[in-house]
Amino acid sequence: MSQHEKSDYRGPKRILSGIQASGSLHLGNYLGALKKFVAMQEENPFLFVADMHAITVWQDPKQLVEQRRGIAAAYLAAGLDPKKATIFPQSGVPQHAELAWVFNCTARLGWLDRMTQFKEKSGDNKERASVGLYTYPVLQAADILLYKATDVPVGEDQKQHLELSRDIADRFNRDYDAPGFFPLPEPLIQGPGARIMSLKDGSKKMSKSDPSDLSRINLTDDADAIARKIKKAKTDPEPLPDTLEELKARPEAKNLVSIFAALSGRSDEAVLAEYAGQGFGAFKPALAEVAVEHLAPVTAELRRLLTETGEIDRVLTDGAERARAVAEPVMDEVRAMVGFWKG
Ligand code: AMP
Ligand code: TRP
Repeated sequence: MSQHEKSDYRGPKRILSGIQASGSLHLGNYLGALKKFVAMQEENPFLFVADMHAITVWQDPKQLVEQRRGIAAAYLAAGLDPKKATIFPQSGVPQHAELAWVFNCTARLGWLDRMTQFKEKSGDNKERASVGLYTYPVLQAADILLYKATDVPVGEDQKQHLELSRDIADRFNRDYDAPGFFPLPEPLIQGPGARIMSLKDGSKKMSKSDPSDLSRINLTDDADAIARKIKKAKTDPEPLPDTLEELKARPEAKNLVSIFAALSGRSDEAVLAEYAGQGFGAFKPALAEVAVEHLAPVTAELRRLLTETGEIDRVLTDGAERARAVAEPVMDEVRAMVGFWKG
């Protein structure tokens, strides 16, 4: 990617992230995203439900309404306090789309051509993918920069999109001769859980689009389902080794160790120190216990909230209002910089 200038941005730190409103959430989302958001909530993060991104592939309108609530409920069930975090629907702030248009004219085709997520999602049938799927990362840059966000907690898979957001911010600042107008946002990826793999194939990430439900632990799974999926997870016949180095060639074993570590707030090394020499007959029940203990309160609260749609919608309405109060003045400035009509 291109060389970045050091950021001239002098504004305050702002944390922002989003999760797409398509399908239900799984353990990868929980450990790679939600758990990190909760850890940062004293810093008043902006967290949204990316329903505009969701329609880059077809969504039934009624289901989109439910999925938006589902993600908002997951934010709350994971432990986010809507007084501290601003939780809002992306489509409740029209400036996301407005800024995305400007950025469509800032970003270059060559930059988007490099995006691996588009290649994965469009598959062999690129001609039939929506134009929105192609410009998806441009809308993501608008999501971030509309709030002048400086720090973006995401899973490993979003690194390339964050690079693009930096390129767009840098290019916009130069094009409009406004050094430091937009920050160059940093991805916050480190930490356990940044890349949780499928329970059935250690070379693929855990994903909501995997056809096998046994490949993932959903946030709506109950204790029995969680235990059953861990029991059926793919492993190998070897006992756990002493060092991480020896796990390198055993992706499924490594993944289960990482999940154990991320859930229990320990390092992979600490988990190995305890279980080295033991086989999966012993490790899997221990992992199931940790997983159930940790996830049961979250899944129970999620199920409760899903029946309280009024409560969820109130959080989203209030969040949208708070988000617009930040977004509108930034967009007004952009409109003036670009030379748009001043009504
Ligand atoms: P998505 O559901 O694709 O919108 O992802 C929401 C968040 O979860 C993003 O920050 C992703 O990077 C993160 N995420 C998704 N899948 C995984 C995974 N298998 N491991 C870790 N993080 C993930
Ligand atoms: N593309 C992200 C994902 O699939 C979701 C997302 C949309 C996002 N806009 C964002 C994440 C802005 C961080 C910041 O996970």
